[in-house]
Amino acid sequence: MPRLENKVVLVSGGASGIGAATARLVLREGGKAVIADRDEEKGRALANELGASALFLPLDVTHEADWQKAVTGTVEKFGGLHGLLNAAGVGAGGDIESCTLQDYRRVNDINSLGTFLGCKAVIPAMKQSGGGSIVNISSVLGLRGAPYAAAYCASKGAVRLFTKHVALHCAQMKYNIRCNSVHPGYIETPMIEGRLSQTIGNMSGRQWLEELHPIGRLGQADEVANMILFLLSHESSFSTGVEFVCDGGLTA
Ligand SMILES: NC(=O)c1ccc[n+]([C@@H]2O[C@H](COP(=O)([O-])OP(=O)(O)OC[C@H]3O[C@@H](n4cnc5c(N)ncnc54)[C@H](O)[C@@H]3O)[C@@H](O)[C@H]2O)c1
Repeated sequence: MPRLENKVVLVSGGASGIGAATARLVLREGGKAVIADRDEEKGRALANELGASALFLPLDVTHEADWQKAVTGTVEKFGGLHGLLNAAGVGAGGDIESCTLQDYRRVNDINSLGTFLGCKAVIPAMKQSGGGSIVNISSVLGLRGAPYAAAYCASKGAVRLFTKHVALHCAQMKYNIRCNSVHPGYIETPMIEGRLSQTIGNMSGRQWLEELHPIGRLGQADEVANMILFLLSHESSFSTGVEFVCDGGLTA
């Protein structure tokens, strides 16, 4: 039996990388996927390719009104809302001395505030739909620090603990809504393309990043999407407020 039969999943950042890989899996498992992204061209192209069980909706995750429209549009099109993947995000280097206030705010607005607005927006519709599952993408850099990513570490650490708050609140209120965070290592998506072509010391950026993972390679979007699929499905029904790590051994 398909693992997400008749389930409707809203995917922020669904136009690319891990979000796009998850949207594809949602459809493969019998569900409907709403691809919500600020990249309209890529998002519409993916939705067109996936066909009638997919829909593109424009979304800037930092705008509360966009979230309201995305939730309303999802329910109007597919009749309910059972899953949210908060995958929209931006990477950023820069240490505490070089990171500007502007960059710090931009990264935290998208990665952290965007996740807050997403969770807030979907809860009423999920309650109406009988419950649901929220998955927030944090990072290994939300579990441990890195000397080169001040704003990113702060934003992903916030996602990690905010997820636990949402999980506990929804459990206490008996909403039948679970909320978990996913913590990828370095995954080969457009987000890290720039770093792969850099030179770090006497290594290529790719080699440097690969060596961070004991498994000896970068991760692929599908490997994270499979973990997310488990969390969106009933198979993870007793897991809420938990950190799920997908990192080739990086944090081990
Ligand atoms: N790739 C990695 O190595 C890695 C590692 C750990 C965590 N993550 C996290 O995984 C998530 C997905 O990243 P990815 O690797 O698939 O990157 P990606 O760049 O392929 O996809 C990110 C998507 O988010 C969208 N987006 C960015 N800002 C947005 C905004 N304000 N509103 C709406 N959409 C917006 C982009 O248009 C893009 O489609 C991010 O939260 C990222 O921080 C990625």
